[in-house]
Amino acid sequence: MSAPRLLLVVTGGIAAYKAPELVRALVAAGCEVQVVTTRAAQAFVTELSLATVSKRPVRSALVDPAEEGRVGHIELADWPDLVVVAPATADVLARAAAGLADDLATVVLLATRAPVLYAPAMNSNMWQHPATVANLATLRARGAHFVGPDAGELACGWIGPGRMIDPPILVEAALQQLARRADLRGRALLVSAGPTRAYLDPVRFLTNASTGAMGFALAEAAASRGATVTLVAGPVQRSTPAGVRRIDIETAPQLLAALDGELAAQPRQLLAMVAAVADVTAAGPTDAKLDKAALLQRLAHGAWVEGVDVLATLAARWREQALVLGFAAQTAEGDDASVRASLLRQAAAKLAAKRAHAFFVNRVGVPQTGFGSETNAGWLLREDQPGAALDSGAPQPKLALAHWLLDALRERWPQVSA
Ligand SMILES: Cc1cc2nc3c(=O)[nH]c(=O)nc-3n(C[C@H](O)[C@H](O)[C@H](O)COP(=O)(O)O)c2cc1C
Repeated sequence: MSAPRLLLVVTGGIAAYKAPELVRALVAAGCEVQVVTTRAAQAFVTELSLATVSKRPVRSALVDPAEEGRVGHIELADWPDLVVVAPATADVLARAAAGLADDLATVVLLATRAPVLYAPAMNSNMWQHPATVANLATLRARGAHFVGPDAGELACGWIGPGRMIDPPILVEAALQQLARRADLRGRALLVSAGPTRAYLDPVRFLTNASTGAMGFALAEAAASRGATVTLVAGPVQRSTPAGVRRIDIETAPQLLAALDGELAAQPRQLLAMVAAVADVTAAGPTDAKLDKAALLQRLAHGAWVEGVDVLATLAARWREQALVLGFAAQTAEGDDASVRASLLRQAAAKLAAKRAHAFFVNRVGVPQTGFGSETNAGWLLREDQPGAALDSGAPQPKLALAHWLLDALRERWPQVSA
């Protein structure tokens, strides 16, 4: 494999004096490093030092006469496997969170499809300011990664959080990100996302609150790591992640037919059933719109019957070749221990009933997890290790959780057949 390409954005914090040391360590670790500096960074570290250790000219100008006739800044954004921003000032975090593009560094941050790892460094008060806290949350929710800062004595004389993480730890974090860049090549993911609709008549249907966020995050994470991804999506307003093939469906039978067709063509896939399938179907849907009296009559006299169980049907058909992952969104009450016990009990029952290989269960009806939430957390229960549920930890952005799930399942995920 070719050397990993890393674009290092150096911004105008005092810790920029560590940038040459960081570049040396990254080059020693086998990376090709292209440095981009902000105007403020140039007051703290010289281009000459950075160019010498990276063995490449430093880029800082948005309009560069040497690049005339080419869209150099976009080529630059397309080049890396990973962007590292170190040190990341409060200012660059704010500009990136706002989507500004007023210099080369922020244009690259906006235009790149590569993962971005920030190493913030600033005075403690700046770090703890609600503006910075909000900017960080925004960037995290969009999938950015962070390492540090450390606590300790700062250049300004303050003691507290804000010191840039030491270069060796930063290099380790960057290499970890880079290791993921193609680790799923040769694997295929078939993921369903969003709600389904059960139509009663041409205009009325039963559905649920799924927004598709988790399934789309899983598709995006797997595609960014080299997997071949097919996303079968219910009716949601979301753009398709880069490199993902999408099939739109509306109803549970359509979902089943689409997934079954995909598995028939390529059974050696990870089937992730993230879609929230309507459990019921109308008892005799009508082609004509029901008037109010007829609607009330239908609702009063058993309008719904049990619908097709998509996951159980597919697992029964394909579990010998595919790795089948189910998702369960459950409610639970009580203290932390009893919530955990209740969720795991419900998940274990579903795992057995549906004959999936694994189930991810999360709590719904509380902030920070489940439908409509930016973040999620839960447990992964595996058929072959029934007593050892994996805890995903504190609520994290759904994209980060998606990577966690892919890491946890990677070993059992079959390679696609040639
Ligand atoms: C001596 C000095 C040290 C600074 N150190 C930091 C710092 O560590 N972190 C930070 O966020 N800003 C720091 N600043 C402020 C930034 O330089 C300022 O916000 C600048 O606009 C950042 O621009 P940039 O993000 O485009 O590099 C410092 C300013 C000075 C004069």
